[in-house]
Amino acid sequence: MTDLKSSVQQQFDRVAANYRTSAVHALGVDLAQMVALADLRGDEQVLDAGCGAGHTAAAFAPHVAGVVAVDFTEGMLRQVELLAAERGLANLTTQRADVEQLPFGDAEFDLVVSRYSAHHWPHPAQALSEFCRVLKPGGQVILSDVVGFNDPTADTYLNAIELLRDPSHVRDYTEAEWLGFFADAGFSAEIGFRFRIQLEFENWTQRMATSQVNCAAIRSLYASAPAEVKAAMGISEAGHEFACGVICGQFSPVGA
Ligand SMILES: C[S@@+](CC[C@H](N)C(=O)[O-])C[C@H]1O[C@@H](n2cnc3c(N)ncnc32)[C@H](O)[C@@H]1O
Repeated sequence: MTDLKSSVQQQFDRVAANYRTSAVHALGVDLAQMVALADLRGDEQVLDAGCGAGHTAAAFAPHVAGVVAVDFTEGMLRQVELLAAERGLANLTTQRADVEQLPFGDAEFDLVVSRYSAHHWPHPAQALSEFCRVLKPGGQVILSDVVGFNDPTADTYLNAIELLRDPSHVRDYTEAEWLGFFADAGFSAEIGFRFRIQLEFENWTQRMATSQVNCAAIRSLYASAPAEVKAAMGISEAGHEFACGVICGQFSPVGA
């Protein structure tokens, strides 16, 4: 039997190249917003947690001293190296690691960024505690991800559709859950930016190599979803939408 984290790595290893070319990942309004929200000086050391094919690391690299792109899927790190070489980003390096157990010393980074990875983390509180540990006092976390719905029915449909598409999906945490995780870890946090993304069904399922059986099950959920869920998720023949958020946390250790 495969454990959850091995399942995430197996899932992403076989489709890593798809994430380098995915428009949702390579483009997206949140990338520029994340850079703007960071209010950079130019001398920062940045950690990209769950870097995938490296689009977030590459967006920050031209504006900071260095970026370490961390992922536990080998195939994704190869994609980051290709992207860094293609764009001539000499200050972008990679490191294989689990974001919930980082191989760095205390207070090594000014900023931790993460995008479209946190819904795979089974213990987000543990990841945030690691971010606290590796951040300098006054450091920041800027995390962008699909967010869950406060409405329980829409939230159940959202996470069921996500799980059918990707068996290694854990949960799209709600904004309230994120703000709670950040506060418990010692961050003062707020929602910096809200946006929606449109997912075209064929493109979205092919990127993850979803089985035909699961594609049919997602189509069946699209059809059976109540009107409120169809509206919340913008479900149509072509696909659906996700609500997303950028959560910004400032780390101020007690007594600092
Ligand atoms: C959709 S990709 C990330 C996309 C990327 N950040 C971007 O901006 O395009 C999700 C990544 O999270 C990584 N991941 C999930 N859980 C992780 C964990 N616990 N530690 C390290 N990487 C993880 C997966 O291996 C995968 O490469």
